Amino acid sequence: MNSKKNPETPKYKLIFLGDQNVGKSSILNRFLNDTFVEEYQATIGLDFQSKNVQIENQDIHLLLYDTAGQEKFRSLIPMYTRDANIILLVYDITNKESFNNLSLWLKDLTNINFDEVIFCIVGNKIDLSDKRVVAKEEGEKFGEEHDFIFQEVSAKTGEGFSELFYQNLFEKIRTKFRPSGQQPATEVNDIKFNIDQEEKKIMPKKKCC
Ligand code: GTP
Ligand code: MG
Repeated sequence: MNSKKNPETPKYKLIFLGDQNVGKSSILNRFLNDTFVEEYQATIGLDFQSKNVQIENQDIHLLLYDTAGQEKFRSLIPMYTRDANIILLVYDITNKESFNNLSLWLKDLTNINFDEVIFCIVGNKIDLSDKRVVAKEEGEKFGEEHDFIFQEVSAKTGEGFSELFYQNLFEKIRTKFRPSGQQPATEVNDIKFNIDQEEKKIMPKKKCC
């Protein structure tokens, strides 16, 4: 059965948030394609991708929204987060400010019902251990205080990915949203997008009716 054509395949909207340069796009690339690029290419506006995964023999469709960390795009974030099911909030373990800013990111999420969303705090770039300035325990503490999933990873080497996605996130989707039931807990709103393939960026299109 081709689950892409199955309208009953549960869909979950997953959004990457976090400061510029922390590695959001790199985590997405590692997750989707198992690749890594050294050169920094800032995300402009928003990138959208999707992926089907199986949780206990049930297909689920992940809609993956990779946001831009640059300040100038910050005002667009509420538009993308308002119907999110899963938020990956990323910091860079070699950049203290990116960790300190996690609280600001959460504060800005005024349109989110925290009880209905799965949050993951992700400390990226653990391959750069000699440059580490955020201890693992600090990240763990932040995760525990908010009752969020916490995982350190390296988008460069792939370390921590199996734990983040398969052991933690997919397990949480299974228990919280119960995708094998008749209906997903939360439906993703039907937002229409213009996709500019050349620049790989998406700009929201006005919703009619
Ligand atoms: P914006 O799109 O501007 O918000 O940045 P981003 O968060 O998407 O960061 P991006 O994935 O573009 O990565 C920024 C830089 O960090 C790039 O040069 C990546 O190669 C590098 N990088 C990302 N993840 C890792 C990692 O795990 N280890 C190392 N060493 N470098 C990484
Ligand atoms: Mg990016």
